[in-house]
Amino acid sequence: MNTLCLSAADPQAAPIAAKIIREGGLVAIPTETVYGLGANGLDEQAVAKIFEAKGRPQDNPLILHVARPEEMERFCHHIPKEAYLLAEKFWPGPLTIVLPARDIVPKRTTGGLSTVAIRCPASEVTREMIRLAGVPVAAPSANISGKPSTTTAQHVLHDHDGRIDAVIDGGACSVGVESTIVDLTEKPARLLRPGGITPEQLTEVLGELTIDEAVTSQIDPTKVVKAPGMKYRHYAPAASVVIVSGSREKAAEYVHRYFEPGDRVLCFEEELPLYADCDPLSYGRESDVNTLSAGLFDALRILDDPQIHRVYARCPEGGGVAYAVQNRLKKAAAFHIVDAEAAL
Ligand code: TXA
Ligand code: MG
Repeated sequence: MNTLCLSAADPQAAPIAAKIIREGGLVAIPTETVYGLGANGLDEQAVAKIFEAKGRPQDNPLILHVARPEEMERFCHHIPKEAYLLAEKFWPGPLTIVLPARDIVPKRTTGGLSTVAIRCPASEVTREMIRLAGVPVAAPSANISGKPSTTTAQHVLHDHDGRIDAVIDGGACSVGVESTIVDLTEKPARLLRPGGITPEQLTEVLGELTIDEAVTSQIDPTKVVKAPGMKYRHYAPAASVVIVSGSREKAAEYVHRYFEPGDRVLCFEEELPLYADCDPLSYGRESDVNTLSAGLFDALRILDDPQIHRVYARCPEGGGVAYAVQNRLKKAAAFHIVDAEAAL
């Protein structure tokens, strides 16, 4: 199969992609968070192709993308007022809401659950494609399962060239980490995955928010959990990743003590001089956390090289978007964190 590469700037991109979706094909779509691998979310056979292309476990449900917030009512029932408040404030944008699913949504899409995750993405071309297709688009992040997510069309082609019908190239994703997922089927609402919409922003609207244990710790893969996707090893390059916490100086001292040839350092731009002899790679500036979220997956992909034995990574502290960056890096490191202050 020849994978068609459409430019988001081409007015024909959305109609061509919409036709492929209607005919049951796979289109990789740009969003503000990461690129998704999209198919008609109401067509079981089309959805099955997503699982096959990604090598994704069948019990891991997909997010249903809609062109307009009002479409929530077509696919969900028992919608609490909080869902409307969140949609009004944060859609189109990097927020996914979990609600009870209507029967029209196939079990293939929901991974057998009675709930569905729904999101209205910000990308204009993607929403236009969904609107023209006339169906909601189920789309997980477009990476091969377990690997770092895709934040450029080049990442998508690296993983799927020749195996999907098309990709729409909308440039690099601005947020760079996947959407925030909030489950509104219980009270208080539960944060299943942190992202571009921060826990602080959610709490402002919801009043109260429970943080799911899958956000902060490694989950036993045999366990039944709220967000099935969160229990699998994720975002990880081939090498083992170790997060080194503590002050700049102590962390650099720790890394220099244990660094071996073939290891790499993933750090903040401000820290590059400290690691000049350790083959460092920066993923953004500590002083601007949005550059870190935008650069993280590209960096993890560069480090996904079987020649690399270990990656020592620096992780931003604090809440807001940093909370999402911490979550992805900790998952990539399988929660292997050393405190340089205590270890030295
Ligand atoms: O930013 C994003 O959300 C991107 C773009 C493409 O929209 N999509 C994305 O999809 O990150 P994916 O499949 O990589 O992650 C979706 C997560 C998985 O962990 C999955 O288990 C969870 O959402 N999920 C989906 N439906 C769910 C549901 N009904 N209940 C709980 N978790 C759900
Ligand atoms: Mg994913």
